[in-house]
Amino acid sequence: MSYQRPKGTADLLPGEIEKWQFIEETARLLFSDYQYQEIRTPMFEHIEVITRSVGDTSDIVTKEMYDFYDKGNRHITLRPEGTAPVVRSFVENKLFGPEYTKPYKVYYTGPMFRYERPQKGRLRQFHQIGVEAFGSENPATDVETMMMALAYFEQLGMSEFHLVINSLGDPETRQNYRQALIDYLTPLKDELSEDSQRRLNENPLRVLDSKDKRDKQFVADAPSILDYLSEPAKKHFDEVVAMLDALEVPYQIDSNMVRGLDYYTHTIFEIMSDAKGLGAQNTLCAGGRYNQLVAELGGPETPGFGFAIGMERVLLVLEAEGVELPTSHQLDAYVVNLGEVVNLEALKVVQKIRQAGFSADRDVLNRKAKGQFKTADRLNATLVLTLGESELESGMINVKAMATRKEIQVPLTAIYEDFGAVYDQMTKEEGE
Ligand code: HAM
Repeated sequence: MSYQRPKGTADLLPGEIEKWQFIEETARLLFSDYQYQEIRTPMFEHIEVITRSVGDTSDIVTKEMYDFYDKGNRHITLRPEGTAPVVRSFVENKLFGPEYTKPYKVYYTGPMFRYERPQKGRLRQFHQIGVEAFGSENPATDVETMMMALAYFEQLGMSEFHLVINSLGDPETRQNYRQALIDYLTPLKDELSEDSQRRLNENPLRVLDSKDKRDKQFVADAPSILDYLSEPAKKHFDEVVAMLDALEVPYQIDSNMVRGLDYYTHTIFEIMSDAKGLGAQNTLCAGGRYNQLVAELGGPETPGFGFAIGMERVLLVLEAEGVELPTSHQLDAYVVNLGEVVNLEALKVVQKIRQAGFSADRDVLNRKAKGQFKTADRLNATLVLTLGESELESGMINVKAMATRKEIQVPLTAIYEDFGAVYDQMTKEEGE
């Protein structure tokens, strides 16, 4: 039997992982400029945390959960997304307390789990970078958070993407619109897909999200939720739009856009890539406002706004757009050592260099000089130090700067006492 990773998962190997580190680091720097702090919650939660937040009738809950009973007979699920766990943590740790800055802003990165049909840009274990801001009802929060997501993609060097927004209003809006949608769809019921017929009973808004071709035709002519916004919901949405206009942020409004998660109220948004070759999985980032969720999970009424970015998709888009990301890593010194007699001295040299705060490696396989130099090249070493039997006898070591090919012999004591000086001498001369 050969062992293979589970379907819909990936091994992220060295060579590729540098790209992940880069996109994570870019997010960390940008999000902390916006005063977000990192939060880490468990990979698994009591299933009620997710069902209560995401919604009992959502695809995620009905079809995609990795849930199981643990040995204590607790019903557990791997987290399918980050918002519900963060809200659970916000409530459980009383992060709404007076000792915390408001709004309370956190970001997270990590794996999420959904039992979906795997395809390009869609996995069963995938990774998100997400943010959640608690405690602001101000439409400016909606706008600055969406702008942060846009800024992230710009910083990564992407250029082909666009922002789409909509409003799902407040409970009053939803109730009115739900009825309007039922009135519109019921006469068409027999012509709808089986899934949509079921959705019409359970959660009619979901019909708008149908991928079925025929459903889509009917959806195109469906009443618009924007015509049903309650007065406060309309005011909020108008302000969001006015602020985006004032800041000259391009956006589209899609009144048929709904989300696969039940907790949203008011503003929702997606950022899609226009790069070629991505197929249907072109949503890079999705999120919105959730003003009821904190109370739903037992906390005080607290508005929230957040988004999550799919990291696998970000990497696919960067590749599709031809953006080069840093992959090679830097090595200050490689110690070529020839013959077993110098084994101990090579160990001392490489350890001294590391203790001096430089990155260093050496051959440990007793390879021929050619093979060792090849490795030094592949590792992109700045300096190559060569130690053979004759050098050891004379207490010297050969130092070569790879960029300039300049070579000198220095006493081993120089390396031991002040490798930094040797490094400076060799690299400074490069520019001259
Ligand atoms: P979501 O739309 O379910 O929202 O996921 C956000 C993003 O995660 C998607 O736009 C996509 O880029 C990525 N994603 C989702 N499923 C997969 C998958 N199976 N494979 C690869 N990438 C995937 C949420 O998760 C919300 N928690 C977002 C949010 C945060 N709303 C408020 N705060």
